Amino acid sequence: MKTKGRCARLYIRLKLGGRGFVRLSVLLLSVLYLRGTILWMTISRRRLLFSSAAAALLPGNARSASTGMITLSPQPLDLEMPVDDFIDEFTPVPSFFIRSHTLIPEVKLADWTLSIDGLVEKPIRLKFEELRQMPRMELVSVLECAGNGRSFYAPRVAGSQWRFGAVGNAKWTGVRLRDVLDKVGLKAGATNLLLDGADVPLGKMPDFQRTIPVAKALDPDTMLAYEMNGAPLTAAHGFPLRLIAPGWASDSWVKWLQHIEVLDHEFEGFWMKTAYRHPNRPVAPGTAVDAKDMVPVTDLNVKSVIAHPGEWAKPGHIAVAGVAWSNASPVSKVEVSTDAGSTWALAKLLGEPTKYGFRKWLYGWDAREGPHTLMSRASNANGETQPLEEQWNPSGYLWNVAQARPVLISRKEPVAAPAPEVAKAEAPNGYAATCMSCHDEHMMRQQRLTRAQWDKEVNKMTNWGAPVQPEKREALLDYLSSRFKP
Ligand code: HEC
Repeated sequence: MKTKGRCARLYIRLKLGGRGFVRLSVLLLSVLYLRGTILWMTISRRRLLFSSAAAALLPGNARSASTGMITLSPQPLDLEMPVDDFIDEFTPVPSFFIRSHTLIPEVKLADWTLSIDGLVEKPIRLKFEELRQMPRMELVSVLECAGNGRSFYAPRVAGSQWRFGAVGNAKWTGVRLRDVLDKVGLKAGATNLLLDGADVPLGKMPDFQRTIPVAKALDPDTMLAYEMNGAPLTAAHGFPLRLIAPGWASDSWVKWLQHIEVLDHEFEGFWMKTAYRHPNRPVAPGTAVDAKDMVPVTDLNVKSVIAHPGEWAKPGHIAVAGVAWSNASPVSKVEVSTDAGSTWALAKLLGEPTKYGFRKWLYGWDAREGPHTLMSRASNANGETQPLEEQWNPSGYLWNVAQARPVLISRKEPVAAPAPEVAKAEAPNGYAATCMSCHDEHMMRQQRLTRAQWDKEVNKMTNWGAPVQPEKREALLDYLSSRFKP
């Protein structure tokens, strides 16, 4: 390895009292390869500062100084992991993305039970201790939000504007769902499990409830988890119990689980029949798709992310490194292009493969001065490969384009451009009471929608309980669509 003997910087994280972590950039006169173990992060403090500046440039997003996470919305809480954090096989819990549809419930174990009823021989109500006494299982799996990458779709789609980091990999501990279902006995005709958590809707929004098919529930890898990376789940990650549906997007991984009802049909509620559905065939960007042609989001797509280098690096031999993941079909290869996709070369896959986990990869690049475009492209054992063009869908789900990532190779660090000005405008009278009772400006700033899209959002929110006065509606739309436009 050419980098042998070169100066590498190792990125060290220390967890502090279970809450937050500090990062130390330690200068090591070291090697990039150490007996097959890769010290592949070469993030300098300067680069960290640079990428923080870059994160601050993202419309509507601010990188938190205390956790390093990008806040998409403080309430309901949506936090994203910055792209340069894709360095660990197991994502530390403080860096693990958070996606909330409503406020995070504080569940007290003493009051908590899991009840299972519906089409079962023997309904039960389990206490936490009873669950813990059942045979334990552990599973490594990626958890990815269906909307991860939504911000890259063109035309734009309303919703949380995730970039790369609404995904993480963890070791989950808990019980096999099939073992729990053996206790109740499914009746003939049972086809779906309706999962409900302890979260309470805001306003008149529909309660977050989802069904998974019985076949997925009986899969030996599907589990109910009470631990994440060896510690009890945090409140934001679903304490005390959440579903683990490995290989599937996180809309099925119901948090704060307290009730399972066995049904003979797919649930008819909003979060099953309207949200988390995508077309059953490719559609042209911007197409309105008929509800009968929409199917629930299930399997994740094969995908990879470049964690290093960031937007700038010095010339020389550089480690292009990141992680790749897939669905139930494991990652088989990762290719890297340093010339915007003209030519591709195989990256080295690191560590041991797991069925559903992150796979780290590494590629050595002799980087010459100038602007370059890096890309990575993962494939899985099923022969699926990341596409080069987006497969647009109306809600912006399952983005997995082999992404073009510009990087400037130069001896001198570039000066970050100032943040683009957001047009100033006086909020209309009553805006605070109408929209800001449930949100803050983060939710609006990240959207960048057309007037027609804002119109739809205002309708949706009115149905969810936003007190929009008819005579003030036009002024509200003028404000939103002039200030937060594409
Ligand atoms: C009663 C509480 C409440 C009020 C009032 C409210 N919202 Fe929301 N809004 C929500 C919730 C909850 C979500 C998150 C839904 C999710 O996480 O999927 C949301 C999501 C959104 C989104 C993200 C896209 C989407 O559809 O999920 C936008 C944009 C938005 N709201 C705009 C507005 C605007 C504009 C107003 C004022 C007219 C408003 N909201 C008033 C509760 C509210």
